[in-house]
Amino acid sequence: MIEYFRRRLGARLLLSYLVIIVVGVLVLVIASQFILPASFNRHMAGMGNDGMMMGMNGNSAMSQLYVDYRASFNEALMYATLAAMFAAFVLSMFFSRSVISPVHAMSLATQRIADGRYDERVQVNGNDELAQLAVYFNQMAEKLNEVESMRRRLIGDVSHELRTPLTAIKGSMEGLMDGILPATDETYQQVHAEAERLNRLVNDLQELSRVEARAYQLNIRPVDASALVRTVTKRLSPHAELKRITLDFELHPDLQHVLADEDRAVQVLTNLTGNALQYTPEGGRVTISAKRTSNDIQFSIRDTGIGIPAEHLSHIFDRFYRVDKSRSRQAGGGSGIGLTIARALIEAQGGRIWVESAGNAIGSVFTFTLPIARLN
Ligand SMILES: Nc1ncnc2c1ncn2[C@@H]1O[C@H](COP(=O)(O)OP(=O)(O)O)[C@@H](O)[C@H]1O
Ligand SMILES: [Mg+2]
Repeated sequence: MIEYFRRRLGARLLLSYLVIIVVGVLVLVIASQFILPASFNRHMAGMGNDGMMMGMNGNSAMSQLYVDYRASFNEALMYATLAAMFAAFVLSMFFSRSVISPVHAMSLATQRIADGRYDERVQVNGNDELAQLAVYFNQMAEKLNEVESMRRRLIGDVSHELRTPLTAIKGSMEGLMDGILPATDETYQQVHAEAERLNRLVNDLQELSRVEARAYQLNIRPVDASALVRTVTKRLSPHAELKRITLDFELHPDLQHVLADEDRAVQVLTNLTGNALQYTPEGGRVTISAKRTSNDIQFSIRDTGIGIPAEHLSHIFDRFYRVDKSRSRQAGGGSGIGLTIARALIEAQGGRIWVESAGNAIGSVFTFTLPIARLN
């Protein structure tokens, strides 16, 4: 019995209401028994019978009147108490229901979510604390739903990405075994290149998961913006020369320090400049520039390459998104994760990143911001 009350919030609420009712009734009964004689006396005195009823030894007619009066009072009190208790009991049932039923609904919904039904929501009634709890509950369910569908999509995307190079490797090996493919250097190099792609993909995925889970340390401090640009230009110059692309930089004179993690900023600049070199044909030009706006420094990487058609611009930072999958593969491109990582890194450092392109064959401009470091 005690166990039952301990385990049921509704029963406990009802019990506490009942205790309050019983205590109220007890106080009512006891108080009325104390007050009754004095009150009777006072009223009788008011009717002109002063001093006739002192205690129980007054005149016998009067004391008989008091006894009858008291009996009828107690009888009325008893019925009234029963009626009041019944009414209070019904009301307290109703009130404890109204508290319990949303809690009950939420616990059922929680169980269903735990069973993997993430579209489960609870009804929000009113705007008290329970309604607030229901709102938060629904927000949590929404978030879980999003995370779950992201996880599904990720697994789908990753298996799809892994399948392409694996199929190529398997095909080449079967060709070799059946003697259809000649065992030449070229064949081995093809297989090696596909294995290399797999390797890059797995590395990218690992980096993406680290960056998206924020499982890395940002070492934010003032960094010289022009030094960043110079470092990356110097690092990628040999690559640009090899592709016969002019790589240069433009630094505005009033450049300040930015508040950033130097390694991560270099990583993003390198990534964007690498893309620009990759998607720009021979004889083209890639320019890295940095200029100051009111609150931050804007870094831009402009190229004269193949450009990005307007309909792709809004998706370009999505993971695994490539404008032209086959072309990206031939061009030695990656898996479409680079820009996703770049965006996550820039946003983690309090900046924004975007792309502009006038379309096919006109080139693209990737721009990101980093906050200015206020040195004093
Ligand atoms: N500078 C650029 N010019 C044209 N297209 C670009 C440029 N940078 C990125 N892209 C397009 O965006 C896609 C995604 O880029 P990214 O995330 O770096 O992936 P990838 O690993 O394929 O380079 C690329 O496949 C390419 O289609
Ligand atoms: Mg890339």
